[in-house]
Amino acid sequence: MQLHMGVFGHPVSHSMSPCMHKAAYAHLNIKATYEAFEIAPNDLELAVKSIRTEQLTGVNITLPHKVAVIDYLDEISEEAKAIAAVNTVVHRDGRLVGYNTDGQGFLDSLIQESDESIQNKKVLLVGAGGAARSVAVSLARYGVEELAITNRTLGKAAEIAKICEPFQSINVYPRGLAQAGLTGFDIIINTTSIGMHPDMDRMPFSLETLKRGAVVCDLIYTPLKTRWLQEAEKKGAKTINGLGMFVNQGALAFELWTGQSAPRDIMRKAVVEELMKERGD
Ligand code: ATR
Repeated sequence: MQLHMGVFGHPVSHSMSPCMHKAAYAHLNIKATYEAFEIAPNDLELAVKSIRTEQLTGVNITLPHKVAVIDYLDEISEEAKAIAAVNTVVHRDGRLVGYNTDGQGFLDSLIQESDESIQNKKVLLVGAGGAARSVAVSLARYGVEELAITNRTLGKAAEIAKICEPFQSINVYPRGLAQAGLTGFDIIINTTSIGMHPDMDRMPFSLETLKRGAVVCDLIYTPLKTRWLQEAEKKGAKTINGLGMFVNQGALAFELWTGQSAPRDIMRKAVVEELMKERGD
């Protein structure tokens, strides 16, 4: 049986998902297609209906549809409900079920790449947009020593804290306070898009008083090493970029669709090669 998957987004032409998923199918000899579908916000409902009529196995959902898509699904997972956003739809027995693999994708990457237990760590999230919400919920469900969040617009950070309250209390700090207390954190995570290509000179947060041995993460993977991660390295920090999160969220979606274990190394290699091609290396 042939499987049919894809990604709904707007714009979607630069998505790395097709090349990553196709590499996984080829590696495991799975007969499958994966297409990027350019879907304008007004066409989302029709596009979701087409998952049934076109007999798609499932789709990834990317910006700007992650919240709006929920209205058109039959069911969503507990995690997607808590995050209030869906990035993966599975067409199962005629029903459309929504999941969110972004936060778990980040958590898996943090656990794999930080080399030590994170449960006894104090974690600071910088930013309070959609990406922050999924990461915050996953961390709160997992449970860490302290979870804190700071954002330019403090009210948005407070909203995320409220969403996470059933799992773990989150401390909400104005930026100045978070900056002053930076030495108290073991793991600092940038969830904003500050420093992303093409605006690569900017930094989301000063790392002046970073604790020695801290882990600094950036959800960005274009470039693979943001200026912020370079600064963190200079301060002796261990750094983790957003590539692992991107690969893991895709791998978890792959596993939901196919029921098979995803070849994460192959998927990562495919994305890195595509990024190099784009840079003209
Ligand atoms: P996403 O859904 O990808 O996370 P988003 O919802 O646009 O993107 O969120 C972007 C985050 O980056 C927000 O936390 C935003 O801060 P505000 O909530 O105050 O808008 C933050 N951000 C973006 N540009 C910023 C800037 N120049 N300075 C500080 N924070 C910024």
